[in-house]
Amino acid sequence: MKYQDSNSSIDTAKKILKVNHAGEFGAINIYKAQLLIAKLFMRDMKPLLYDFMADEQRHLDIFWQEIQNRNGIKCKSYWLCGIGGFFMGLFSACFGRKGIMACTWAVESVVVNHLKEQLVYLKNSKDIAAYKAVNSILEDEENHRDIGSAQGGKNMLFKPLRFVISSFTELIIRFGMR
Ligand SMILES: [Fe+2]
Ligand SMILES: [Fe+2]
Repeated sequence: MKYQDSNSSIDTAKKILKVNHAGEFGAINIYKAQLLIAKLFMRDMKPLLYDFMADEQRHLDIFWQEIQNRNGIKCKSYWLCGIGGFFMGLFSACFGRKGIMACTWAVESVVVNHLKEQLVYLKNSKDIAAYKAVNSILEDEENHRDIGSAQGGKNMLFKPLRFVISSFTELIIRFGMR
């Protein structure tokens, strides 16, 4: 999705920060739900999922700080992201390790594409603070995506699961940007 100047009272940079902040809340909840299942059935997955969740928490704080610098508020999609993320995490974890990795790969692939488009927009509009905030999380999200891919997330069997998850992720981002 190409990012453009907004017609509403909230400028695009602020919307980007809000959508990303809500997305991070969604991501935290994905990993939280997956950890619930991993604690019971896949204990060896716990360290990785805790690592991912810690990254998302740090990202959440980065965006919230920048939103507050602009006197902003939470995105209208904040709770939707949280609840949606939780169910996506729970559902994917029912398919085991590869289900978890398919979810990670699907979500983070969509996220990374959006982050790159956001960076193009923010660079052009010379919003250095917002650019820095977005850029500071890009490497982590690429890393999550690549781990998802390396650990079986691209398995053919999970194509339908990935389709559902990436469609939902894409939709919720677009809804937040409206
Ligand atoms: Fe994140
Ligand atoms: Fe992530």
